[in-house]
Amino acid sequence: MNYNFQDKVALITGATSGIGLATALRFAECGARVALLDQHTTLPFSARNQFEKYGTDFHLFQCNVTNEKEVSGCVNLVVRRFGRLDFAFNSAGVGGEFATVQEYPTDDWDFVMNVNLKGTFLSMKYEIPAIIKSGGGAIVNCASLLSLVAYENDSAYVASKFGVLGLTKNAALEYASTSLRINAISPGFTRTPMIDKGNDDKLRQIAARHPIGRVAAPEEIANGVLWLCSDQATFAVGLNLLLDGGYTIQ
Ligand SMILES: NC(=O)c1ccc[n+]([C@@H]2O[C@H](COP(=O)([O-])OP(=O)(O)OC[C@H]3O[C@@H](n4cnc5c(N)ncnc54)[C@H](O)[C@@H]3O)[C@@H](O)[C@H]2O)c1
Repeated sequence: MNYNFQDKVALITGATSGIGLATALRFAECGARVALLDQHTTLPFSARNQFEKYGTDFHLFQCNVTNEKEVSGCVNLVVRRFGRLDFAFNSAGVGGEFATVQEYPTDDWDFVMNVNLKGTFLSMKYEIPAIIKSGGGAIVNCASLLSLVAYENDSAYVASKFGVLGLTKNAALEYASTSLRINAISPGFTRTPMIDKGNDDKLRQIAARHPIGRVAAPEEIANGVLWLCSDQATFAVGLNLLLDGGYTIQ
């Protein structure tokens, strides 16, 4: 489905790779102008070509979502450059180490919580007033199927994503009566650099845990984000849109 996001501005964190990049491209395809925020300053060549093909304005801003000054400065820059902000998709995230709780390195725990949970909090903190000032819109936070179920040896990631879901519901409640809707999306395992480390056996094992028999393509998750931002989802508030190929029905 193609939405008409002409005259809209979408901000995406974690936008140079994976689900964030696929979502940024879908927004551009639907006519939105796109602000790409990422710690990295290079966009894959093919993605740059694709944005240019869609012909909408886009700009990459360097931003570490764990740094409050950078996040607030970047959101200001986005509004100054594009004149408004309508949608935000907070996709920046990291996977972290695999270890039991008692062996989990505390520095790695802090790192995962900082990027996934604090980064989402900081992003919303500055996106919310910018979107409300522009007349309203939508925020989607990237949670995970691991915001609902556990995954062995992955405590920091799982705790951070349970946190993202709680944070999303709280923010959704606080702004439900305004023109801003806040929701979460929870992808199943998705073929991005986060899980695709070139080990096909491992990927096959992960795919087999999904009743659908495969992992998601980033574009399948992007479609859910666009729906949550669209006028088709005007009654969705604090929703966790679970796109997990049946992983959690077992
Ligand atoms: N791939 C999966 O299987 C899967 C499943 C469920 C949820 N998710 C979630 O989807 C989101 C996107 O992940 P992905 O799979 O596209 O991974 P990815 O590694 O392809 O992309 C993550 C992006 O986030 C950026 N990033 C990381 N730390 C950052 C920071 N401190 N500041 C700014 N940018 C930062 C990276 O540079 C990268 O561009 C994450 O929140 C992830 O937890 C992924």
